[in-house]
Amino acid sequence: ADLEKIVDTTDEWIITRTGIKERRIADEGEACSDLAVRAAKKALEMSGVDPADLDAIIVGTISGDTQFPATAVYVQHLLGARNAAAFDVSAACSGFIYGVILGHGMIASGQMERILVIGAEMLSKVTDWEDRSTCVLFGDGAGAAMMEPCPAGEGILSTRMKSDGSLADFLIIPGGGTRKPLTSTSYGEREQFIRMKGDGVYKHAVRAMVDATRAGVEEAGLTIDDIDLLVPHQANLRIIDAMKDRLKIPREKVVINLDKYGNTSSASIPIAYDEAVREGRVKPGDLVVLTAFGGGLTWGSVVFRNCLG
Ligand code: UT7
Repeated sequence: ADLEKIVDTTDEWIITRTGIKERRIADEGEACSDLAVRAAKKALEMSGVDPADLDAIIVGTISGDTQFPATAVYVQHLLGARNAAAFDVSAACSGFIYGVILGHGMIASGQMERILVIGAEMLSKVTDWEDRSTCVLFGDGAGAAMMEPCPAGEGILSTRMKSDGSLADFLIIPGGGTRKPLTSTSYGEREQFIRMKGDGVYKHAVRAMVDATRAGVEEAGLTIDDIDLLVPHQANLRIIDAMKDRLKIPREKVVINLDKYGNTSSASIPIAYDEAVREGRVKPGDLVVLTAFGGGLTWGSVVFRNCLG
């Protein structure tokens, strides 16, 4: 309802068209890494890992502290993770999944043992608060996961990573790069903010997450019925409902929390999975599927068997 005072919208439109009822907005003085560090500290505490023992920190974000260097280096410094390589992944809402897949590859190849993967966004600072088609959707947040080796047959069973750059302008911040450096003209045209072709993204989203989930489960030698918990990117309740209907997955197996946080891009999956863990929804041996889509366009899935008690 607060948004009704800013743009031409209604609380009713937002809830019925998106399912979003609340979103979190960071303080003016905070940056993306501040949220990332808070999530990282909780993940390190939960896993009992000392920051000095981290081999890498990967941050999925499109709203980092600075254009460069990577937000991950600020996180590394703030955590005191002096032995970790630190870099960002720019894959929009798929950023966390892409990070997990990279972490998996680095651990499976034997290059590294302890990798912290974070999805962190401060979208409130790259949102056009005069654009009703986007400002009602996004929120700020961060989530983190510690990745370590585990016995074969547990942990990650399959991964999917896909992109289609021909649809890059569906979801974009056009200004501020070398294509359109920021000038007083581009500022006037508000090119420093997110622009989205919502209907195009919507259509692609359902198909992409359904395909990534099916392919991921098949590659793991399993079926859709074997899934215990599905954690989709939290963009729109109608997208999640359409996806679960196509996959014929009952709603109780799907984690949905976008009503509280809105679309937090790369942070949405780790926040949703963390809530599911803390609510006791994930048991040892459960088959979990994470699936995302986002700007790029990018999409993908991670299928894993939970090995934690
Ligand atoms: O993380 C990945 C990124 N993004 C997404 O996943 C977003 C995917 N897309 C969506 O979730 C939906 O397309 C939206 C929620 C963005 C829009 O919902 P929609 O049902 O596709 O609405 P629409 O764009 O077709 O617009 C319907 C009407 C339009 O009015 P007219 O042209 O029919 O008169 C819009 O101008 O709703 C209007 N509208 C609004 N009305 C009130 C658009 N935004 C608003 C608003 N309040 N905030």
